[in-house]
Amino acid sequence: MEETITKLLNPVKGILAADESTHTMEKRMATINVSSTPEINRNYRQMLFSTPGIEKYISGIIMFDETVRQKTDEDVSFCDFLTQKGIVPGIKVDEGLEPFNGGEEEITKGIEGLSERLKEYSSFGLKFTKWRGAFVISDLYPSDPFLEENLNRMVEFAKISQANGFVPIVEPEVLLKGNHTTTRCEEITTKVLRLLFAKLNNQNVDLTKLLLKTNMVLPGKDSTVKAEPLEVAGATLRTLKNSVPAEVPGIVFLSGGQTPDEATLNLNEIVKLKKDAPWQLSFSFSRALQGEALQTWSGKDENMKAAQEVFLKRAELVSRARQGGLE
Ligand code: 13P
Repeated sequence: MEETITKLLNPVKGILAADESTHTMEKRMATINVSSTPEINRNYRQMLFSTPGIEKYISGIIMFDETVRQKTDEDVSFCDFLTQKGIVPGIKVDEGLEPFNGGEEEITKGIEGLSERLKEYSSFGLKFTKWRGAFVISDLYPSDPFLEENLNRMVEFAKISQANGFVPIVEPEVLLKGNHTTTRCEEITTKVLRLLFAKLNNQNVDLTKLLLKTNMVLPGKDSTVKAEPLEVAGATLRTLKNSVPAEVPGIVFLSGGQTPDEATLNLNEIVKLKKDAPWQLSFSFSRALQGEALQTWSGKDENMKAAQEVFLKRAELVSRARQGGLE
């Protein structure tokens, strides 16, 4: 587990989230007028993973169950393909969201049978796992019963993962949707993270052998307010210092619906401002890394090379931002 963490937190690299569920993949492919099928998804992911030079910027890739059972054109499993490139293969193990108590909140499912699934994933060569919980901000939400239950499940996931030799990535995502202020996002993110770490401690989860994946602190998408990178960085670092124990080795950010440029510049500013922060700060973007490549590809074989170039360029920029190296 230590070796996996050291590799994932390489100082110039970060994690590519390519773990979109079947349903999310349908939505992504619909934006380029393509109908998602397992074979089309495989082609698309093969294109990303085989981008020449990807290993210079990407330390690990989070996959979905569908992908870890698929092979490249050369008949090599994607897990082995990535491992051979020096990229650590990981997997999302939650099974998505379901309604909670008849309200607007949706709770993460997938604890049942998790231990057995992990034994199979271990045999594939996967090294780390991810579990996402989503938290909506409104005047009413997140509700206390929802916070309790959703975070209890996340802690259970972390415990089961460590017991099976996997590095867990706990991902509480406070969502961008809504018209809340940056201050309200800070308040809720702090509350969620404090409760999460109190629960992890209570359950004796080893905080030195997990990663936190979380949102940057931003104003709600519908608020029409655009926060400058310096403000985002200040609010995000204050939130993390107030809620994340120093033993946690690394915090990786999701992009959460920001544009690729917004996510990249905000990460850059966070790293520039971090000073004596005790954790490594890195990225685990899906949309901000993949969005431009997906549009360039548009489902056409003849666009693959151009899409790989666009993907590599964005990965390089995000890698520089991870070092606070963009002007
Ligand atoms: P985004 O970067 O698109 O938010 O995705 C990250 C992720 O893994 C969501 O679970």
